[in-house]
Formats: sequence, C-alpha cells, structure tokens
Amino acid sequence: MGRPTYQVTELLGDGIGTELSRAIHTLAEALPIRLDFIPVDLALENRRARGQAVYDEVAEAITATRVALKHPTITAEESPNAVLRRRLDLSVIHRPVYTIPGVPTNFRRELDLDIVRVATGGTYDDPGRMIGEDAAVSLRIVERRPVCEATRYAFALARRTGKHVTSASKYTIQRGTDGLFESVVQEVSRQYPEVSHRTELFDALLGKIIMAPERFQIVLVLNEYGDFLSDMACGLAGSLGIGASANLGFDAASVVRVALFDAAHGTAPDIAGKDLANPTAIFLALAMLLSQIGEIDAGHTVKTATLDLLRQGVRTRDLGGEESTETFTAAVAAEVSRRLAPRPQPATR
Ligand code: NAI
Repeated sequence: MGRPTYQVTELLGDGIGTELSRAIHTLAEALPIRLDFIPVDLALENRRARGQAVYDEVAEAITATRVALKHPTITAEESPNAVLRRRLDLSVIHRPVYTIPGVPTNFRRELDLDIVRVATGGTYDDPGRMIGEDAAVSLRIVERRPVCEATRYAFALARRTGKHVTSASKYTIQRGTDGLFESVVQEVSRQYPEVSHRTELFDALLGKIIMAPERFQIVLVLNEYGDFLSDMACGLAGSLGIGASANLGFDAASVVRVALFDAAHGTAPDIAGKDLANPTAIFLALAMLLSQIGEIDAGHTVKTATLDLLRQGVRTRDLGGEESTETFTAAVAAEVSRRLAPRPQPATR
C-alpha cells in the first residue's frame, strides 16, 4: 500500500531559506506519509523580476493545496508576509510559545501559551496622518468577522486540547472597538459551553503572565495586542528565533480554508550558506502543518523529537551546541523515523 500523499505549497525564500528547505525535505523523507511539495520562488530576485505574477502564482498554488510552508524572505519593496495576509485573507495567527528545554532564558518559570491573534485591523491597517503640524490621528478598526473566526478557532482548539481560554483587551476604555471584540467573544463562547473562558484587561494580563504563567493557556487578542504579547512571550521563553506560527484563512462557516505555516525568524544573512542555520522553527512549523492536515501523530512526533533532542544537548551553535544544520537535521530525521516506525506485530499461533 502506498503512503498517504498530501500536496503542500512550499514558498522558497532568501538567505538561510535554501538550507531550511533542504532540511525540511530530509525530515519529510523520514515520515510515514508523502509530502508532495509544490515550490514557488518568493526570493527577492524573482519577486523583482516578475512582480505581482509571483503572488498570483502563490495564491493559485495555496488555494489548490490549502496548506503552505513559507521560508523567510527579505522585506524590501514590500513585506511578502503582509501581501500574502491580504491576498489570501489570512485573518488569524496562531503562535504557540513555550519554554524550550535547553534554550537559555532569563525567565525562570515554565510558560506554555497558545496566542490566537486577530491578524487584521486594529491600528495596523491605517498608518495615520498629520492634523496640522502638531497632531496626528489614525483609525482603529475592529470587525466582527475576523474576531468571530479567531474566537471559533481558539475555542475549538480549547475543546480539542482541554485547555481554557482567556480573552484580553482594554474594553473598559476602548468601549466601542474592544467592547465589540469582547461582545463577539461572549456570543461565540456560548456555542462552546464546555470550554472555560475568562476575560482580563490586557495590561493586567501582561503582569499576570509574568507573575503566574501557569494560569494562562490559550490567549485570544486583537491584532496589536497579539503582536506585543507574542514578542514578550517569546522573550520570556528565550526563543525569539525559534518560534513558529500558523496564518489562517477561513470559509463562510469559519472552517480553515487555507493555512500558511512559517518560522518567526528572518533570513539570517550573516550565516546564510554556512550550514549554521537552526532549523528548529521551521520543523515546529512543519509539525503544526502536519496536525492541520490531520496527521496528528506525525505532527506531535516531529515536535517532541525536535524538543527532546534539544533537551539532550543536540543543538546548533546559536543555542550553544556543536551541530550544523545538516547534522541536527539528520538527528531529528533519524529520531522521527525511529519513533514512527511500525511496531513489530506479536506472532500469532
Ligand atoms: P533575522 O531573524 O534574520 O536575524 C537576527 C539574528 O538571528 C541574526 O544574527 C541571525 O543569524 C540569527 N538567526 C535568525 N534565524 C536563525 C536561525 N534559524 N538559526 C540561527 N540563527 C538565526 O532578523 P534580521 O537580521 O532583522 O532580518 C534579516 C532579513 O529577514 C530582513 O530582510 C528582514 O526583513 C527579514 N525577515 C523576514 C521574516 C520572514 O520572512 N518571516 C521575519 C523577520 C525578518
């Protein structure tokens, strides 16, 4: 019997993107399923040469495969991430942030958060404008649909994992915008009576996460709050460079229509081509992708094998280890293969 096959759009990038792509292909070979990668070149040179046609090709590929893995790209004339978010209507970002054993951190406590962020609106859609010479103003936009999608995603995640949800905003001050957010969250939460949910003021939330991180699991927030919270949480976990995210677009019934997974770090031009890139983040992005396509066991194994090796001291140089991109990848691939190998059946008489 052939291995189950899934098509995945792979967005090739700049800098260490080439090495990360090689690492992903090596790891994919170790899986008991087949990932059929459809490559689209998003490197700066190709974007400059082909302009919008590249994004048309990306949109077509992702609409067909429904899942994509994106390697880091140089932000030059445009931010490919922002273009893709708009183009594919990726309205929600899911960023898990957790303490990774073996990653040095100033924060002594364990942290394990799933940040679910409305990826559109807030103050980020309007750069603002001057009013005369001494004042400036910008619009802050909160829309029901993306809030609804983020809330359903967060509560479905809670239902699947048994975790609880905290929504946070400044609803006491931003009564119109954040008030709408919290009222949509309340409304949608009624469809998930088994999920425990509470509300915090966003500023208080930041302090509480630092003082008692174990009290928070899934945190649901608007765009800019999610942006601030993600970086703070990554800083606490000591892992700014090894986080991964899912960027999600939904259909009319709030079911995931397309999902793009990527590493949080950039193209690392200083180490590109030197076999020094740490592929942990892109492996964690692949783990999320596997869960999204229903290969839960494979996704869990890629994540735990990577983290267990880090814990055992198998690390690249940026984490104080000795491994190169290639040797670390080979170690993870071997471990994944070992863990997912079919168990010998007991002999039958
Ligand atoms: P960066 O994340 O590329 O690098 C910051 C530092 O972290 C560098 O010292 C780099 O060597 C190190 N680093 C990053 N990823 C690493 C990895 N996987 N393994 C080992 N070390 C790693 O950030 P920087 O230098 O600010 O940006 C470089 C380029 O990347 C810029 O053009 C920026 O616009 C772009 N960028 C792209 C992103 C994306 O496509 N998602 C995200 C962030 C930046």
